[in-house]
Amino acid sequence: MSSTAQPDGAAGEWPERIAAVRRELAEHGPPRTPDGAPDFATVSLPERDCDQVRDLLVDERAGTVVEIGLAYGASALAVGEALLRAGSRTPRHVVIDPFQYTAYDGVGWELLCSAGLDGVAELVTEPSQGFLARLADVGFAADAAFVDGSHHFHNVFVDLHFLGGIVRPGGIVLLDDVWWPSVGAAAAYFEINLGWSPVPGALAGGTTDPASGRPRTRAYRLPDPQPTPDFKEFRPFC
Ligand SMILES: C[S@@+](CC[C@H](N)C(=O)[O-])C[C@H]1O[C@@H](n2cnc3c(N)ncnc32)[C@H](O)[C@@H]1O
Repeated sequence: MSSTAQPDGAAGEWPERIAAVRRELAEHGPPRTPDGAPDFATVSLPERDCDQVRDLLVDERAGTVVEIGLAYGASALAVGEALLRAGSRTPRHVVIDPFQYTAYDGVGWELLCSAGLDGVAELVTEPSQGFLARLADVGFAADAAFVDGSHHFHNVFVDLHFLGGIVRPGGIVLLDDVWWPSVGAAAAYFEINLGWSPVPGALAGGTTDPASGRPRTRAYRLPDPQPTPDFKEFRPFC
């Protein structure tokens, strides 16, 4: 992968090109929805939330982002736009989704490529729980992560565990669908026991659950330095 590759045209126009692909996707949906694949509106992060994710990553000046869950590419395009707007000379986006070609017929990756992001992003088609373990093992470091893959408690817990070793101290982890108990419970462990702190004001104005008012997506800042708590100080988190 060449992280300095640029698509045709001036570099300054590149984020606009990504924004245009995002707008087309939000307004007209994906170019195709494979038989049996989840419907676009159900599975994708809404456009307004994608904008907030982009803006937060730009504010953080993120240069390397790990993302779990590609689907039709809505959030991945927003992350890609953020990486370009944040101004890193070596933007890098690791996107993990084992079902991109089986369930989504490669549509999300095609859209990233059509936005010129194939020189920035790399797609990993295996479950995040195994891949992140290897990524952590080789010492890969990221500024931020966006997590929207498997929503089973044990998988989210494992994702967050390994991201705690991959995202640099002081970096951020954004987690979608925290309003689901399975996802929210996994996040609560890291918040209550490991000092991951909600980023004040981050993603304000994003989608909330109409009944409870709870936000759909939450951003956590990792402690710096990372604590190594005594197991005897474990605090129940559900
Ligand atoms: C809700 S969708 C992601 C939507 C995406 N964030 C967006 O806004 O367009 C969840 C995705 O997670 C993927 N997924 C499911 N299990 C996974 C796993 N174990 N590892 C990585 N991705 C997984 C699915 O294939 C699906 O594409």
